[in-house]
Amino acid sequence: MRPVRSDRPQRPLPSSAGLGPPKPVPAPETPPLARIRSLLNGYQSTAAIMAAYSLGVFGEIHRRPQTAEDLAKACASDPHGTRALLEALVALGALQRHGPTYVLSRDLAPYLVPGVDGDATGMMDVTTDLYHAYGELARGVRDGSPLYPLTGDEILHGDASRVRRYIRAVHTGSREAAFRVVQMAPLLAGSSLLDVGGGSGIYSATYARQTPDLKAHLFDLAPTLDVARDILHAEGLEEQIEYHAGDYRHDPFPGPVDTVLLSNVIQTESEEHVFGILKRAWEALRPGGTLLVHGVMPDADGPVQPPVALFSLMMFTLFGHGRAWSSDQVSEWLAQERFGVRFVKPLGEPFHTKLIAATRLD
Ligand SMILES: C[S@@+](CC[C@H](N)C(=O)[O-])C[C@H]1O[C@@H](n2cnc3c(N)ncnc32)[C@H](O)[C@@H]1O
Repeated sequence: MRPVRSDRPQRPLPSSAGLGPPKPVPAPETPPLARIRSLLNGYQSTAAIMAAYSLGVFGEIHRRPQTAEDLAKACASDPHGTRALLEALVALGALQRHGPTYVLSRDLAPYLVPGVDGDATGMMDVTTDLYHAYGELARGVRDGSPLYPLTGDEILHGDASRVRRYIRAVHTGSREAAFRVVQMAPLLAGSSLLDVGGGSGIYSATYARQTPDLKAHLFDLAPTLDVARDILHAEGLEEQIEYHAGDYRHDPFPGPVDTVLLSNVIQTESEEHVFGILKRAWEALRPGGTLLVHGVMPDADGPVQPPVALFSLMMFTLFGHGRAWSSDQVSEWLAQERFGVRFVKPLGEPFHTKLIAATRLD
């Protein structure tokens, strides 16, 4: 028998602090049937939200919390179907039920209810259109044609109400990201910003709010600017921005400026057009000026993340040539067009986008 060594140092017992982060526990593997079910049933959640939106359920509940019977009367819908829909919305977290009464969570109201303060229903409107368009995805992929085109030509010559829905949706989607971008790349007081393909102008407006005496120029197609004026007017920001109607595929950009911003633009365009836009951005900048590129730009060799891959598919369905160009690819193009990349940074949760800052080199 080996003697017991009482002088041996005691091994420390595991404690709850100071031992580094806990080891990741592998998630139990989802059985194949459950996985295929969840992939196949994704449409049901979207359909439930879209149905409630189009029946006016959210507006009714926002006006007054109500029972299923009252809502069925108010929305002229079948009581049994209405109750089933309401319960599904509770399960999905869009509604809450207190006893027999359904209520809407306050923070979701701007997204779900048209006409409330800070109405952000643009995303709901565009999703309604896209939901129908995606039913034809196989045809679009077979033909190589966008299913719901929002290209420059469509904006210039197509349905004006579609442009309004698009720009309202982009405005909603960009509101919070704009704050993050401004924090990550603040501008100097009294400097100038050119926001190319600036959409609703939410980035220009957010920069103008945060930067004393900023001269902000919004450059976009004329039909988009009409919508931007209305949105910014409603938010009391119209005066802070100078509007320039133009086509970034052909027209020179106004300049010289200290900073050019390309937010969510590159992902909508072909490589050929991206080069044209970068050239014109270089020309519009003062020597040493800054180009900011913001958008969904995955790592070239990184893991395929579902939101990013599905976003890239959406760029195809809307723009044909659009895709989530990688940040490595975009950095390479910037170097070719005489820009020195200063940083490439993810915006961080909950966003899937990155910001690239580059300097015009002479
Ligand atoms: C996805 S939105 C991005 C809007 C904004 N930069 C943002 O991040 O919220 C793309 C914008 O590019 C504009 N656009 C598309 N084709 C254009 C063109 N040929 N010339 C100028 N702007 C164009 C659209 O009108 C739209 O405002």
